[in-house]
Amino acid sequence: MIHKPSNIPNHIAIIMDGNGRWAKSKGKNRLFGHRNGVKAVQKTVEESTRLGVKHLTLYAFSTENWKRPQKEINTLMSLLVSSLKKELNQMLENDIRLNAIGNISKLPLSVQKELNQTIKKTKKNSRMTLTLALNYGGKEELTHAFKEIASKVKNNIISPENVDETIINKHLYTRNLPDVDLLIRTSGEQRISNFLLWKIAYAELYFLDILWPEFNETHLHLAIDNYQNRERRFGKTSEQLNT
Ligand code: IPE
Ligand code: IPE
Ligand code: MG
Repeated sequence: MIHKPSNIPNHIAIIMDGNGRWAKSKGKNRLFGHRNGVKAVQKTVEESTRLGVKHLTLYAFSTENWKRPQKEINTLMSLLVSSLKKELNQMLENDIRLNAIGNISKLPLSVQKELNQTIKKTKKNSRMTLTLALNYGGKEELTHAFKEIASKVKNNIISPENVDETIINKHLYTRNLPDVDLLIRTSGEQRISNFLLWKIAYAELYFLDILWPEFNETHLHLAIDNYQNRERRFGKTSEQLNT
């Protein structure tokens, strides 16, 4: 199915969108959509691991999602706790390391506790790093980084002329992640919605109309196939790449 096993994107990030619309199309409530969204997450994690993707980053809850009805927020948080509990053994068996990015300290304590435990239990795993973006916003991430850098400059730990891309990167929640190679968004929306602003600087973007609960292995393969047929020039000319 995948044409070039040697050119699998090292880092895939996904904006998992469309749970609500999917549920509505079935005459159900939004919460039903989120529960089915979890099944698509399981399939995606499993197939990404099998394909040899080293980093998979999933947008699970944005800094803007707090504006949703409280009942929906509560469901999302409890789904997260129950999924972490349920998936721990899979992660251990498949050598998957869990990671989280975002303003984690503002999440409910029950979520923080489960998250920290799972991160700790999987920290020696190395086949794939699964990063959940939770209470994550690209602007919040940059603001947080700039605040820390400003305070270090003030305390003479960093001098202003030394602030460069490497220093900024070191202060991001995503500091240990490589740049994103392929960014996928489901549900037909073609926007970034404040996801990973720094690390998607040169990502290949792939949008598909499928709603997240319907996303499966075939869609992942199509996205990777499409990615493999692109020429990533990084500012160079095509001729330079082919000599
Ligand atoms: C994505 O689906 C899940 C989260 C944002 C948590 P949505 O809940 O945004 O579904 P739509 O976009 O309303 O259909
Ligand atoms: C983006 O989806 C956030 C997540 C997938 C967690 P949204 O549904 O919140 O995005 P907008 O509001 O339609 O841009
Ligand atoms: Mg949405």
